[in-house]
Amino acid sequence: MKESIYLKKLIDQGPLAWDYHFLFQGIEMGRESCFRELEKSELVGRGGAAFPTARKWKAVWDKDDVVLICNADEGEPGTFKDRYIMENNPAYLLESMLLSAFIVNARELYIYIRGEYRQAIAMMKSEINKAEAVIEALQEKTGVKLRVEVVVGQGAYVCGDETSLINSIEGVRPNSRIKPPYPTAKGLFNHPTIVNNVETLCNLPLIIRDGGAFYSTMGVEGSRGTKLISLSGRIKEPGVYEVELGKVSLREIIFDLGGGIIDNRELKFVIPGGISTQLLINDEIDVKVDYCSMKKAGSALGSGAVIVADDTVNAVEMAKNAADFFSKETCGICFPCKEGNRQIHTMLSKIHAFEGRWEYLELIREISETTSRAARCGLGQSAGNLLVSAIEKIPNDFERYLPENDSERLR
Ligand SMILES: Cc1cc2nc3c(=O)[nH]c(=O)nc-3n(C[C@H](O)[C@H](O)[C@H](O)COP(=O)(O)O)c2cc1C
Ligand code: SF4
Repeated sequence: MKESIYLKKLIDQGPLAWDYHFLFQGIEMGRESCFRELEKSELVGRGGAAFPTARKWKAVWDKDDVVLICNADEGEPGTFKDRYIMENNPAYLLESMLLSAFIVNARELYIYIRGEYRQAIAMMKSEINKAEAVIEALQEKTGVKLRVEVVVGQGAYVCGDETSLINSIEGVRPNSRIKPPYPTAKGLFNHPTIVNNVETLCNLPLIIRDGGAFYSTMGVEGSRGTKLISLSGRIKEPGVYEVELGKVSLREIIFDLGGGIIDNRELKFVIPGGISTQLLINDEIDVKVDYCSMKKAGSALGSGAVIVADDTVNAVEMAKNAADFFSKETCGICFPCKEGNRQIHTMLSKIHAFEGRWEYLELIREISETTSRAARCGLGQSAGNLLVSAIEKIPNDFERYLPENDSERLR
């Protein structure tokens, strides 16, 4: 099986002599025509939630004080595809952002980049300076004054959530906001605001170049186009790969594109969409990689962070690490998420230290369920997915840590 190179072809050309011709092609076509192509493409967001991009943009269509934010926080462990784009072709990303800003008629354009991505931050800042003439030409053609700014995140995972990110730019406590109102109605400093992932915006020039109808011939219903996959873990050839959605299985990604497991060991499980998603075990990985198929398989594609674990990986340690992450990264504004993640982490730490009880396994499941129902944002809603699926699908690893004579076990 071969990699489907579509978006990556442009990224891999690099920024040298980049002439922003897709942007000017879009301006020639006009906002309405560009938007019609976007609608035809059926593009959905690549940041994790798979929300239809055209539907989001339509919500601000008639507004004249729109803010567009490119979300490059990329805090999900195992995800590094946005970094790949920024470091390999910042000019292409800037062009995608400017084209999108033109279509949504934005007055302000931000890119919010995670602080750890020092090289990407420097490259994006330098590219914006280099593109001064392009930005001026865009302003002249549209008559709209556009301010472009890089904002550097300070390392909190929750700031990747669009409303936390907006709070972070505003300089207030970056907890998730209650929705509605949605950012499209009341976003940054109360302006109608669109937040889109890096990869989502990078599809716009391709949709303008090839037309929305062509774009929608790739992929399957609900998952059109291609997807960048960040492949990592116990894999021979980790990296960023591009696949056509719905046409390739997880097994093919791991064994054909990634070259298989290190030392040819046995595959134990795969985390298919970052550590907020349920793991899949060996006989579940023939699932096709698209949003709907992954959901049917009981997990999610998320941001496309495929993490591979072999038989050297201990599910208890993995679950403890994930719980450690969530208990530290909760913003703490909703009690179930703040306290639930702390309790789960405590129980998993005790299990790992051979001080756990059998009842903890059921308690972890119950607390995760309560948190997922009561939490305000995706962090709390999905923090238990991986841990609970690990307990259900790899019980042997947990049982080895628990006392043989615990009365709970006898029930
Ligand atoms: C805790 C949390 C972290 C998130 N982190 C990111 C992120 O790093 N990058 C991203 O694009 N979306 C992230 N999201 C999703 C965003 O809230 C939002 O849905 C996305 O940026 C919208 O863009 P899209 O429609 O192009 O996918 C996160 C959501 C949550 C709840
Ligand atoms: S679910 Fe967790 S991270 Fe999200 S707003 Fe509530 S406390 Fe904060």
